[in-house]
Amino acid sequence: MILETIVVAIWAMLPAYIPNNVAVLAGGGRPIDGGRTLGDGRRILGDGKTWRGTAFGTAAGVVVALVLNRLHPFVSDVVVADPFPIAAAVSLAFGAMLGDILASFLKRRTGRERGAAFPGVDQLDFVIVSLALTALVATDWFLATFSLPVIVAVFVLTPLLHVSTNVLAYALGLKDEPW
Ligand code: CTP
Ligand code: MG
Repeated sequence: MILETIVVAIWAMLPAYIPNNVAVLAGGGRPIDGGRTLGDGRRILGDGKTWRGTAFGTAAGVVVALVLNRLHPFVSDVVVADPFPIAAAVSLAFGAMLGDILASFLKRRTGRERGAAFPGVDQLDFVIVSLALTALVATDWFLATFSLPVIVAVFVLTPLLHVSTNVLAYALGLKDEPW
């Protein structure tokens, strides 16, 4: 059932969707790269990737997974998915942050300044890394949850959700660019 697939896709990805948004709100302070540049004269990651944003973002994603686990008994008829094992909670949340960090590394290497758009990469970096990390550290749960239709739904829905939340965050003045 298509609706069931969409519900599972969004539910299972929520711990990966939240971290980047929380990082926007909580970010600031010391950048992860400590201000260092590489041989190309550009920053390793840039000022947009901070320890505080990464820590709060990851923690928020884990908390979301734990809250969803508490809600699960009440919605298990609708959400046909197993509760998040702690390893999956951490890998979804941290993987999302790591994907965004790797994207910034790629952006700097390709000459894009902080805040520059990188179409495609901006929308899917965190999905690919959070799913890959989860497949690695919570394999049984990953295989039980992410059937092929669910994965397809994630790759179709995520860019749409990403674009709309970022436009909203921009409109609310929370983000400097609408991507
Ligand atoms: N942020 C953070 N730490 C992270 C990710 C994000 O502190 N690991 C915060 C930063 O304040 C950042 C904001 O969230 O400016 C928006 O995130 P993002 O769009 O990913 O960063 P950009 O500033 O656009 O930088 P980049 O070009 O490297 O993506
Ligand atoms: Mg950005």
